[in-house]
This record gives sequence, structure tokens and C-alpha cells, in this order.
Amino acid sequence: MSDVSAQRLKGRVAFVSGGLRGIGLAVAERYLAEGAEVVLSDLDAEDSAPARDTMARLGQAASYLRADVTSEDDWLRARDLVKDRHGALHILVNNAGTDLTGPVETLALDAWRKIMAINVDGVFLGTKTFVPMMDDSGKAFRGGSSIINISSIMGLVGYSEVSAYNASKGAVRLFTKGIAVEFAQKKMAIRANSIHPGFVLTPLLNAGFQRWVDKGFAEKSSDLVETMAATTPIGRLADPSEIAGAAYFLASEDSSYMTGSEVVVDGGWTAQ
Ligand SMILES: NC(=O)c1ccc[n+]([C@@H]2O[C@H](COP(=O)([O-])OP(=O)(O)OC[C@H]3O[C@@H](n4cnc5c(N)ncnc54)[C@H](O)[C@@H]3O)[C@@H](O)[C@H]2O)c1
Repeated sequence: MSDVSAQRLKGRVAFVSGGLRGIGLAVAERYLAEGAEVVLSDLDAEDSAPARDTMARLGQAASYLRADVTSEDDWLRARDLVKDRHGALHILVNNAGTDLTGPVETLALDAWRKIMAINVDGVFLGTKTFVPMMDDSGKAFRGGSSIINISSIMGLVGYSEVSAYNASKGAVRLFTKGIAVEFAQKKMAIRANSIHPGFVLTPLLNAGFQRWVDKGFAEKSSDLVETMAATTPIGRLADPSEIAGAAYFLASEDSSYMTGSEVVVDGGWTAQ
């Protein structure tokens, strides 16, 4: 039976970057269902329809600010908002991300730098900004505060024409291990772990599939969904809520002895 009614994140404050859609939104929804207060950030303006509609649906325990993860100034504004509104931060989900595909010799340096800025600098800046607050906030719990960095199966294995995304997600994996060891050895009250999703049905994946269709690799997007499902032992793609389950576990006291771990949620794709 589901334990959602136990609200086991009551009294915790979470920040989720890239929270207006896909995996980030599913994580925010799960944390709210577990009783946490959640601050979401994304690129959409605060008075845009996606932001207003989503916030109206998520309710009073959620708040939103427009913040670009590549901007240190935006992270400082996010920290001020969290401090003023909640006075603490226990859970940071560095989720915002983008992709880039193509033969390595065709990748533009600007495009390479952009994916590194969002996927890698964004994780670094979020961590750097919130660590002092999270160390203070985490002292109240045996498991401390929790940083959850969203990497990918593409941060574990290479894939043709995905080298830039591979490099960015591999960096997230080892950055997470580095800070995990650093915090633990310094007796700081913060754990850090990475999540490695497989193929998840989100706007990002749909946009990627559409690009493959445009290049003539498939007739329609749904063919690619079927192809990727066929390469996955479980035989289907993931729903974002199935990644949120792992993000809930890593945020909760159930994972109090886990730091520096990589949690793979891929329907068996990398087990083959
Ligand atoms: N969908 C998948 O199959 C999959 C698999 C493995 C890993 N991931 C990772 O999961 C994370 C979420 O992906 P998703 O599939 O939900 O993507 P998505 O595009 O559906 O959602 C990502 C959100 O991040 C936001 N974002 C992008 N750049 C940003 C920036 N500079 N600042 C702030 N917000 C920004 C977008 O506006 C969007 O709302 C990403 O890090 C992605 O690499 C996704």
C-alpha cells in the first residue's frame, strides 16, 4: 500500500530547478504530496501561462521563481527567496537540463558550451549557493540535508552522437561523488547522490525524438518510443513519476546512510 498519506517530508523545504515540466514537475508534485514545501525554478516568466497554471494547481505549499541555472545572480536571488520565505533548505534537486546530439565533428563550440553551462555549471552553482544553508538546516536530521543531482544513463555509458550530453552527465556523476566525500569528511550535514534515469516520457525526450523524425531516422515520434521501449528490458519508457519515486527516497530519512551513490532508474537498460 502507498505510504503517501504519511507525509514523510513534512517540515522539509525543497528546491527543484527546471520544475515546470517533465521530471522536475513530477518530483515537485511528489514532494508536495509528502508534505514538503517546494520552491520551483524555471526559465518561464513568473506571470507566464505555464507558471501561473502550474502554480495554481500545485497550491499554497509551492512557489515559483524565474531563474536561469547558468546565472549565479539568479541563484543568489533564489537563495534570498528561500531564506525569506522558509528560512531553511533541506532538499536541493538540480534537475534543469538540456540535450545536444549529432556527430562530434559537426557540433558547434557554442552549442557545446551551452549544454555544459546548463547541465554542469547549473549543478555546480546550485550546490555552491545552497550548501551553507543546507548544512545548517540538515543538522536537525540524522540523514541531514540531501542534494539530488539528475544525471542520466548517458552519464554511465557512451552512445553514438550523444558525446556532448554524455560528457555533461558524466561530469554530474563525478561532481556528485566529489561533494559527497567532501561533505562527509567535513562532518557537514549534507548527503549528495545522483539519479540516472533511462528514457522518460517528457517534453525533452519528445523534442529529441522529433529532431530524429525531422532528420528522416523515423516516420513518426511514436515509432521511436516503440524502438526505445524494445531496447529496454522492462519493455516500456518511464513515466516521470517513476523517477520522482527515487528522488523522494533520496530526500527521505530512508536513505540516511546513502551519499555518493548513483541510483539508476532505467528499466534495466544499463544492466544488459
Ligand atoms: N527525459 C529523459 O528521458 C531523461 C533521461 C535521463 C535524464 N534526464 C534529465 O532529467 C532532467 C529533466 O529532464 P526532462 O526530460 O524532464 O526535461 P524537460 O525539458 O521536460 O524539463 C526540463 C526543464 O528544465 C528547464 N530548463 C532548461 N534550461 C534551463 C535553465 N538554463 N535554467 C532553468 N531551467 C531550465 C526547462 O525549461 C524545462 O522546464 C534533465 O537534467 C535531463 O537531462 C532526462
